Amino acid sequence: MRLTILGGGGFRVALVYQALLGDRGTGRITSVALFDTDRTRLTSIAAVLGQQAAGVADAPVVTETTDLDEALRGADFVFSAIRVGGLEGRTVDERVALDLGVLGQETVGAGGIAYGLRTVPVAVGIAQRIAAVAPEAWVINFTNPAGMVTEAMIPYLGDRVIGICDSPSGLGRRAALALGVDPATAFYDYAGLNHLGWLRGLRSGGVDRLPALLESSEALSSFEEGRLFGADWLRSLGAIPNEYLHYYYFARETLAAVQAVQQTRGKFLLEQQSAFYAETTRHPERALELWQKTRAERESTYMVESREVADAGERDERDMAAGGYEQVALSLMRAIAHNERASLILNVRNRGVLHHLDDDAVVEIPCTVDANGALPVTVSQLTDHQAGLICSVKAVERSTIEAAVTGSRSAALRAFAWHPLVDSVTAAGKLLESYAQQLPDLTRFRA
Ligand code: G6P
Ligand code: MN
Repeated sequence: MRLTILGGGGFRVALVYQALLGDRGTGRITSVALFDTDRTRLTSIAAVLGQQAAGVADAPVVTETTDLDEALRGADFVFSAIRVGGLEGRTVDERVALDLGVLGQETVGAGGIAYGLRTVPVAVGIAQRIAAVAPEAWVINFTNPAGMVTEAMIPYLGDRVIGICDSPSGLGRRAALALGVDPATAFYDYAGLNHLGWLRGLRSGGVDRLPALLESSEALSSFEEGRLFGADWLRSLGAIPNEYLHYYYFARETLAAVQAVQQTRGKFLLEQQSAFYAETTRHPERALELWQKTRAERESTYMVESREVADAGERDERDMAAGGYEQVALSLMRAIAHNERASLILNVRNRGVLHHLDDDAVVEIPCTVDANGALPVTVSQLTDHQAGLICSVKAVERSTIEAAVTGSRSAALRAFAWHPLVDSVTAAGKLLESYAQQLPDLTRFRA
C-alpha cells in the first residue's frame, strides 16, 4: 500500500509516520511518498523519519519529491496536509483581524475566511490532479479550514475525499474517561461543522451517560472542555461544545486575551518552526531529538489564551500523549483498506442526516467506515441554537468557496460580513481590503 502525503515537509508528518511504524498488520502502508513545494522542509522531515525508522524492521520506505503528479502516481491513499502561504500567511490572517478588533485565529472567524480564500483554489487544483492521476485513491483531508476545504474538493473527487480533525474524538475520549467509560466502546452523539460542534450524548451499554457527566462537578472539572466552559454553562447548554466554541461563547474575553499577547499563535509557531528547520538543516543527525523538543513546546502552549480566560490551568499530559491527529487518520485508512468496520467522527456530506442542512453540505458527524468509504449515521437533530450557528457558518463557508473559485469580491465581502464573530459590514469591508493588500494570493479582491 502506498501513501502520499501532500505537505510532506510539514512538522506533523512525523506523527503520522510514527503511527505507521506501529502498524504491523497485513495490508499496512509499505511506501510513503512525501510531496512538498519546499525542498529544505522535505529534507528535514525525511531526516526525522529516517531516525524514527532506525531499528524498526520493514519500516515503510520514504521517498521525497517536489513534483505533484509524480507523488500522486500509484497512490492508494493521499493525505492532504498543506499550508498555503505558510505560517507567514497565518500570522497575517491573525494580525489583520486583531488590528481591526475581531478575532484573529487560524480557522475561526475572519482569520479562517482569509485562510480559506487562499487555500481553496490550491485544494481544488490538487483535487483535479488526483482525479486525473490517481482516480482510485482515497483522499484524507487534514488541510484547514478542513470542513470548507473538503466541501470544495468534493465536486472533483466525490465521496472519496473525507475530511478529518482530531478535536471531536479528543472531546469524546476525554468525556468518556471522565465517566470511567472505555472510549472505544461508547457511541458519541456529536454533530456540527469542523471546529463547530457539540457532544449531545454519550451512550455506553445502551444508556446515555452525558446527563450524569453534566451533573457531576467533579467529573466536569477533570477534563479540558469541562474546565474551559464551566459546569454552569455546560448544564444550561445540555451538551459539551468542541473546544473551538470557546471563541464564540466567550468571544469578548478570548478576543481580549489574544489581543493582549504580543505574539499570535501563528507568530509563535513561525519562529519556533523556522528555528526547528534551520537547526535540523545544520544538525541532521539530531533531527529526531530537535523534533521531539519542538513538539513538546508546541503541544503545551495549544489554546493557551482560552485556558487562561477560563482559568483552566495547564494542558493535561494525557491529551498531549494520546495521539489524536495521526490516530484518526490511521483508523480511517485501516477501515477502508481492510474493510474493517469502524465508527469515526468525520467530515462528509450530510446526506439527509441533519434536517437543517442540505444533502451536500459537509458536516462533522459520526460515520460508519469500511471499504466502501464513510457513511454518516443517524444522530439527534440539531437544536435551534446549534442549527442557527451552523447554518450561519455554512453560509460563510460557501460564500468563501464561491469567492475563492470565481474571484467574486461581493462573495468575499458576504463571507466576512455574515460571520457571527464579525460585528459590522464596515468592519467586513476593511478586513477584506486589508487582507487583499497584505496577502499576495488575495490581491484580486482589492476594491
Ligand atoms: C487541533 C486542531 C487542528 C489544528 C491543530 C494545531 O488539533 O484540530 O485543526 O491544526 O490543533 O493547532 P496549532 O495552533 O498548534 O497549529
Ligand atoms: Mn482540526
